[in-house]
Amino acid sequence: MGGGFYISKVVGVAGIVLGAGAVATIIALAVVYSEEVAKNNEVISPTNEGSTVKPTLTTTEGSSVSTPEGSSVSTPLLPTAQPSNEPWDKYRLPDTLKPDHYNLTLWPRLKVNEQGLYIFTGETYVVFQCVKETDLILIHSNKLNYTKWEGGQLAKLTALGNITAPTIKSSWLQETTQYLVMQLNGNLTVGELYQLDTKFVGELANDLGGFYRSEYEEDGIEKVVATTQMQPTDARKAFPCFDEPAMKAVFHITLLHPVGTIALSNGMERVTMEGPEGTVEVLKTSFSETKRMSTYLLAFIVIAMLLNRLQIRIYARKKAITDKQGEYALNITGPILKFFEEYYNVSYPLPKSDQIALPDFNAGAMENWGLITYRETALLYDPEMSSNSNKERIATIIAHELAHMWFGNLVTLNWWNDLWLNEGFASYVEYLGANDAEPDWNIKDLIVLNDVHRVFAIDALASSHPLSSEEQAIQKPEQISELFDAISYMYCNVCVCHFLQQTYLKAFSYNNTVYSDLWDHLDLAANSSGVSLPTGFNVNSIMNRWVLQMGFPVITIDTANGHFSQEHFLLDPASRPDVPESEFKYEWIVPIRWMKTGKEQSLTWLKTRTANMTDMKVIENEWVLANLNVSGYYRVNYDVPNWERLLNVLNTTPESIPVINRAQLIDDAFNLARAKYIDTILALRTTKYLKTEKEYMPWESALNNLDFFYLMFDRSEVFGYMQAYLKIQVEELFGHFKNITDNWTKVPSGHMDQYNQVNAIRVACSTGIDECLNLTKGWYKQWMNDPTKNPIHPNLRTTVYCSAISAGGEAEWEFGWNQFNASTIATEADKLRYALACTKQPWLLNKYLEYSLNPTKIRKQDATSTIVYIASNVVGQPLAWDFIRDRWQYIFEHHSFTFAPTGTSSIQLMLLFSQLKDFQAEHNDFGSGNLAIQQSIERTSANIRWVAENKKKVLEWFDGEVPKP
Ligand code: BES
Ligand code: ZN
Repeated sequence: MGGGFYISKVVGVAGIVLGAGAVATIIALAVVYSEEVAKNNEVISPTNEGSTVKPTLTTTEGSSVSTPEGSSVSTPLLPTAQPSNEPWDKYRLPDTLKPDHYNLTLWPRLKVNEQGLYIFTGETYVVFQCVKETDLILIHSNKLNYTKWEGGQLAKLTALGNITAPTIKSSWLQETTQYLVMQLNGNLTVGELYQLDTKFVGELANDLGGFYRSEYEEDGIEKVVATTQMQPTDARKAFPCFDEPAMKAVFHITLLHPVGTIALSNGMERVTMEGPEGTVEVLKTSFSETKRMSTYLLAFIVIAMLLNRLQIRIYARKKAITDKQGEYALNITGPILKFFEEYYNVSYPLPKSDQIALPDFNAGAMENWGLITYRETALLYDPEMSSNSNKERIATIIAHELAHMWFGNLVTLNWWNDLWLNEGFASYVEYLGANDAEPDWNIKDLIVLNDVHRVFAIDALASSHPLSSEEQAIQKPEQISELFDAISYMYCNVCVCHFLQQTYLKAFSYNNTVYSDLWDHLDLAANSSGVSLPTGFNVNSIMNRWVLQMGFPVITIDTANGHFSQEHFLLDPASRPDVPESEFKYEWIVPIRWMKTGKEQSLTWLKTRTANMTDMKVIENEWVLANLNVSGYYRVNYDVPNWERLLNVLNTTPESIPVINRAQLIDDAFNLARAKYIDTILALRTTKYLKTEKEYMPWESALNNLDFFYLMFDRSEVFGYMQAYLKIQVEELFGHFKNITDNWTKVPSGHMDQYNQVNAIRVACSTGIDECLNLTKGWYKQWMNDPTKNPIHPNLRTTVYCSAISAGGEAEWEFGWNQFNASTIATEADKLRYALACTKQPWLLNKYLEYSLNPTKIRKQDATSTIVYIASNVVGQPLAWDFIRDRWQYIFEHHSFTFAPTGTSSIQLMLLFSQLKDFQAEHNDFGSGNLAIQQSIERTSANIRWVAENKKKVLEWFDGEVPKP
């Protein structure tokens, strides 16, 4: 990964602290030409209005100025001012010497010294070669005052080779021609290298030439920038140099500058160290050496930190950068940083933000401060080849990691037991950041599908765990790794968490905290913003119930009498005896947002196990819907008549229920059915209205829940009936997308519609709608015929590839495999890697399983997910299971393999269950997989019971819903 392989951008993230006028001034200052100097002078240096700074540091014998450290410097008298034909009276350098490289340290003072002057000090040496014999050294120097060396000379000369340099006879400054002149006591030898050392002081005048001072006002405070303009002949005003364009050399530059400023030069900043210089604390920034270059092109700048100048760079493989795959990340990083600066009300704490895509990377991304690492699919976007889902992942993952720059990096949790707060918080605000970058997506709505439902699924198990653990309980590396599970990533669920955490960040910057520090600050915020917490409770007492006990409640509302109550929700009611005790007795303080017959009611808190509210009582056709927009972390159950009325609303006027809640009703119903709160058939009935539904969220929610039915029944006679039902349900949606995409020639404009188009094709093809199968097979065939032209839209590729490879044989698979190997775009390769697991040929799946553990075929970072893809294919599932068992030792040692807790189907269940148990007994330590395997066993046993209880009635219901010919 070469250093040059990046693109970058300079953005004004510090916009909140920098007024527009000041921004303009800074930008202007960096580019003004000398002719504009006079005009602009008065405008940009308000302190010196109308006056010019006297050149007090020139060449009068005896005049001396003090450096900030107090050492005195002086300049000798000119020997003669008469014009003559001496070399030092000529304006061009003699052709006797040639510079090779310079080492230069400059220290501009951004405050006045005792004499009321802005100065800079410098130390430099130049290594030059003698190309013609001479006893004279001329080097340009203008308005610099030199410190004398031993012997009273203005410079020190040494030879670098095996010879002795002649001593300096006399040295002086030739003002007119701007030279430092040194006459020697002997000749320099041709071909030899010599080093000339000097120490000097110059004035950092606001004269727009050489190393000069620029000033502006910000928030009523005078600010000083040190900057340079060398072209054509002012480099000599910054340091002694052979100041002609042909005198190219390499420059090693170091700038000393005040803490709180950044230094820039031609080279890349290499190291910035903080340390004392004399009695003053300074930063020392060294730059990488320059190319061989002319002096007039040098630049040195010292500027207050974050003055509209944050460097954003994206690094990746060279090809990815030249293909512009980093552009999207580059474009959204600045706005997202700016968003978080405003959100947190704290400036981005670093001067630069580097992000790098690595070909091999285990996690999705890692928030190293100022240098975030990503796997390629999480950072690189190709408009021609990446889908909208790839784009969304990139936007959210960037937002997530950038959110950590403050929450996690600036303020860090004390120990890993509080990791959930770090990750949970970032997982919530990533949606806010991404929403700011892509406001049209409505991405915040997806929190429910992507996060809440995911966490609900495992937090409803008796083997779940509280968010927070005791510090002492987390000691071993495996224990720490185990903490990074979906529960820790749960979003900040109780509404008080949505308040800004600004005072918390300010109070603990560069320090560490425990989670209750945040609650304390939220309490302050809640008090000062007049948020209504339930009487008798503060943030601490509310939040403790959510983080110190595991799980979440189901709220049951009885609309017949206005009764409502809470209970710890368990997916498997039989597991209740296994649930550990809780000091809060599995009661929560629950914020209930709800509506009655389409009209929003005021927020109600449920603080006890049961409560009563007459408003929740309904008459006639009224209905109640709670957890509006799923703003709370709980499920809701109703009395059966209210469920019936809600079903009726779905079937008649679905739009009177917000779209997020349509999705939620389906998810709650299916899960309540699994947990035996309601009948399975009632849950299935929530999918009937989908025939007319066009929105993504309810469809996605239903399909996710029906996946469980597929998993349970895919090898039984129920499967055919279920397919027939879903085929009818999806027909209209398929037709809808065909229409709005002009017969599949384009994609819908809305982000969610694009997702739902994929669902329509996926379900239509998998339930055997011929038109769909012909479409996907045709596209894939077309691509096979001309591999240089892929006719499939990136959004549809995962589904189309999968459908075509599933319906096809060896040729389709091999073509996919070859395309996978040929792809230089990670997101495209990932689509193929997924689709290759869709084949129905066991021998291809076995071959693919073998490939998955061969790092020359499948990258190690992708091994686990490839096996999981294969295991979620009905044909691949038993093959994958055998494979995992055979290779367990290897997998365990080489991969952090985590069990997909849902990846089992019914025919295998009995067998698998006993196998899992044996398996756990055989290998009694799974490292960080211990909890995962426990959850897997618990879920499997619940599934076995569920199938036994539900198979018959589910079959009958599906059968009854399919019209008979
Ligand atoms: N800090 C994590 C990455 C991490 C997790 C490193 C576990 C080591 C062990 C990072 O901030 C993160 O959360 N990454 C997520 C992406 C995010 C969008 C949820 C990931 O890697 O999947
Ligand atoms: Zn994170």
